Amino acid sequence: MINYQDFFAERAQLMQASDIREAFKLTENADIISFAGGFPSAEYFPVQEVEEIVSELLASSPGIALQYGPTEGIAELRCQVAELMSSKGVRCSGDQVLITSGSQQALDLIGRVFLNPGDLVLMETPGYIGALGALKAYQPIFEGVPLDEDGLRVDVLAQRLEELASEGKSPKLLYTVATFHNPTGVTMSMERRRHLVRLAEKYRFLIVEDNPYEEIFFEGEPVSSIKSLDTSGLVIYLGSFSKIFLPGLRVGWVTAERSMVEKLAIAKQSMDLCGSTLGQKIVSTAIKRGFFSRHIPALRFSYRKKRDVMLTSLERFAPEGVVWTRPQGGFFVWLTLPERMDAKVILSEAIHKKVAYVCGSGFHLDGGGHNTIRLAFSQNTEEQIREGVRRLCLVLKENLGGREVGVARAV
Ligand SMILES: Cc1ncc(COP(=O)(O)O)c(C=O)c1O
Repeated sequence: MINYQDFFAERAQLMQASDIREAFKLTENADIISFAGGFPSAEYFPVQEVEEIVSELLASSPGIALQYGPTEGIAELRCQVAELMSSKGVRCSGDQVLITSGSQQALDLIGRVFLNPGDLVLMETPGYIGALGALKAYQPIFEGVPLDEDGLRVDVLAQRLEELASEGKSPKLLYTVATFHNPTGVTMSMERRRHLVRLAEKYRFLIVEDNPYEEIFFEGEPVSSIKSLDTSGLVIYLGSFSKIFLPGLRVGWVTAERSMVEKLAIAKQSMDLCGSTLGQKIVSTAIKRGFFSRHIPALRFSYRKKRDVMLTSLERFAPEGVVWTRPQGGFFVWLTLPERMDAKVILSEAIHKKVAYVCGSGFHLDGGGHNTIRLAFSQNTEEQIREGVRRLCLVLKENLGGREVGVARAV
């Protein structure tokens, strides 16, 4: 028997299956109502529109759509994304856009291009596990910054930066999902965004703003991106078509200063030569057809209904002592249980009652969050959400020692 562990590089030892991936396996069991995976709902995939676009592309330009393309992405899509960004207050041109295989690839590219082993990376805790996984391979030191209902605690960050500066240190970058945060659903206030940009300028670190949920907003308009406040070129913006179109196409993008885009493109070249040309052509054609101006409002409407059902079901069934966030967009609600409860222990009982979730501890850098839970409302039907929350709350109630079911206070 060969022990293949002996062949793995040191950095491969740092690569571990995440709790989320493990939880996804549960979604394969049809009996279980799973709130684990934050996937977009397949019922909103515009199959007919895509069929038409693909037929059109294969008839008119198969030699382009099925060929390798430029590493930076097809020029047309880069310009379309630049226009989209400009319409949201980020003035940029096509050469400040790099098309990537989803924003997940952009995270790996950022690690490759910017991180030396031992560099300090700050991120929200709890934070997006996929960013942690991607950046980890480049062996930085991670430090978590807490967050509350207004997003990252920029005041805590400011204090820490001052301490670091007094030791002659500064972070290389700060990673944030400021809008409809994964996993908590909260959004960073405008005031904090401005403060954060000032801190980046003062202490000279990069901000990586990962913004895949921006368009899925439920109330009014979302606050402007951090990138739109950036006059020093320190913000690297990551966007994605996964949540508003088709994750299977793997089309996302980076918007940043030209020299950063050029370096990231060189790194991408050795990674995959280029992203899927067909995927990019499909996205580009959909934009030209005006598809998104019809599709995105419909998505907002449908996801908002699901969010509402989850929140009203929690209000109805959750036992006293359980609190949760009220996301204004995105896919996630974050539950905090009383301190003495352990979400990992409760998960096996929940699965027994045919409901699943992701334990919050997996999103914490510091091993905290044992009493927290992420619920994704994006994929289930309204009926499943109602029934799933009822089952979950029953388990929580039993674990609380059968105390009365009451209306929980939302944070
Ligand atoms: C915060 C965040 N960043 C990045 C991604 C990856 O998205 P993509 O499909 O664009 O790679 C996700 C997916 O869930 C996410 O939630």
